[in-house]
Amino acid sequence: MNINKIIAIAKQKGFIWQSSEIYGGLSGFYDYGPIGILLKRKIENWWRQFFVKSEESIFEIESSLIMHEKVWKASGHLEHFIDPLTQCKKCNSFYRADDLIEENIGEIAEGLSVDELDKKIKENKIRCPKCKGDLSDVKIFNLMLSSNIGPATGFPAYLRPETAQGIFTNFKNIVTATRAKLPFGVAQIGNAYRNEISPRQWIIRLREFRQMEIEYFFNPENVSVPDKKLLATEIAVLKREEQLKKNPKVVRAPAEDFVKEGIIPNEIMAYFLVKELLWYQSLGIPKEAIRFRHLMPDETPHYSKGNFDMEIKFDFGWKEVVGNAYRADFDLTCHSKNSGVDLSIIENGKKIVPHVVEPSFGIDRAIYATLLYCFREGKDRGWEWFAFPPIIAPYTAAVFPLVSKDGLPEKAKEIYKMLKEEFDVYYDESGSIGRRYARADQIGTPFAITIDYQTLSDNTVTLRNRDDTSQVRIKVDDLIPTIKKMVRK
Ligand code: GAP
Repeated sequence: MNINKIIAIAKQKGFIWQSSEIYGGLSGFYDYGPIGILLKRKIENWWRQFFVKSEESIFEIESSLIMHEKVWKASGHLEHFIDPLTQCKKCNSFYRADDLIEENIGEIAEGLSVDELDKKIKENKIRCPKCKGDLSDVKIFNLMLSSNIGPATGFPAYLRPETAQGIFTNFKNIVTATRAKLPFGVAQIGNAYRNEISPRQWIIRLREFRQMEIEYFFNPENVSVPDKKLLATEIAVLKREEQLKKNPKVVRAPAEDFVKEGIIPNEIMAYFLVKELLWYQSLGIPKEAIRFRHLMPDETPHYSKGNFDMEIKFDFGWKEVVGNAYRADFDLTCHSKNSGVDLSIIENGKKIVPHVVEPSFGIDRAIYATLLYCFREGKDRGWEWFAFPPIIAPYTAAVFPLVSKDGLPEKAKEIYKMLKEEFDVYYDESGSIGRRYARADQIGTPFAITIDYQTLSDNTVTLRNRDDTSQVRIKVDDLIPTIKKMVRK
């Protein structure tokens, strides 16, 4: 798993660039280039297909990035959305104290108090990783990224650190507009901002990132899931007691067994954990590299009655890619109290505040995982390539005339235009056909169509499959249905 090679290719081929690069870059911010944005959009669309469109009662909204300060007071973010900060007394570098402890002694330190963190730093003689200088006492740092609204200063604004709050504050509007009955979900895809102390690991910990979240509302006295059969799917769970051991091991069992055991708080969360596993596998991540970690009590957020992180094994170790929280009625109750607007609903003549389970995905981490697991060294073919599943590949197909003369480019452009109506496709006539296949593979294009002299006489082309480099001859009229079938496979 050579991440440095992948980062270099991602830059060169137009996937991902450091933001403001010509001015030295801005830490924690990245730009997506022409290939990267196609990959990102495809992953988003595939997520919408899998988690929103395939469900009967999940709606989508888009709320604003900046919301009233009172939203963040009510949600608890202004008070609780904090990380522990320590600074090197010699070189002034900032660090997240819990990360530093975890890296130095291999113990989970998230959720420890300031005093406990100070004690661990001193007991273990942890020093600045850059210059070995002494570290300051740990302080609390709020992660909300702030600004000001309007010409007068003093009216503070906060960029949202999660998309979720826009769903809770619109709860009444959503129920009125959709006439939805419990259980139902509301999804939102959009950017989130956190003033992270130490952005790191490329696009893993960013200050601006993109989330895909669902708030699934239900009556806690009447829990039902859209498809109960899914609960029989085996998942790997890292239980709390295992995390205290040197070599923690996962337990593999049907998701429903963990509900019966009382580890997963309800069937709705189990349903989403299974869907997350299936979705991530569809991106090309092997099931052995996926686990669900039951968060320790100290790490569980202030609003949650039970959290499971879906984690992926990255080149640097296991890392959360989806946060799952049983937020219960915390948010609707807080917003009802603070706004004075009643956010309860009437079900069977009874007034209730719905409970909520929240699966929260970060797109940038999904992209990191996809690039990592789809990367192929390609020693056999002489160039590196990406084995993106066709459903998320930036370009579905490339169109090449064998030579740039004798009417082949004209015929190729005709076919290119036809395919462009259905798929993301590009046209390339420069360099040898071998070099063009290599360039298509390097950005993970699953299909390449070559127009040759035979095309002019019988209207057939060759269709090359990226994964095994095999080629078949196919009628131009069959191209669209054939590719569609292979994309959906
Ligand atoms: N609404 C709940 C929530 O935001 P979270 O666990 O803080 O939960 C959810 O975040 C997901 O958002 C994470 O699993 C991760 O994929 C992504 N994420 C969070 N912070 C991030 C950051 N600084 N950079 C990139 N992605 C991040």
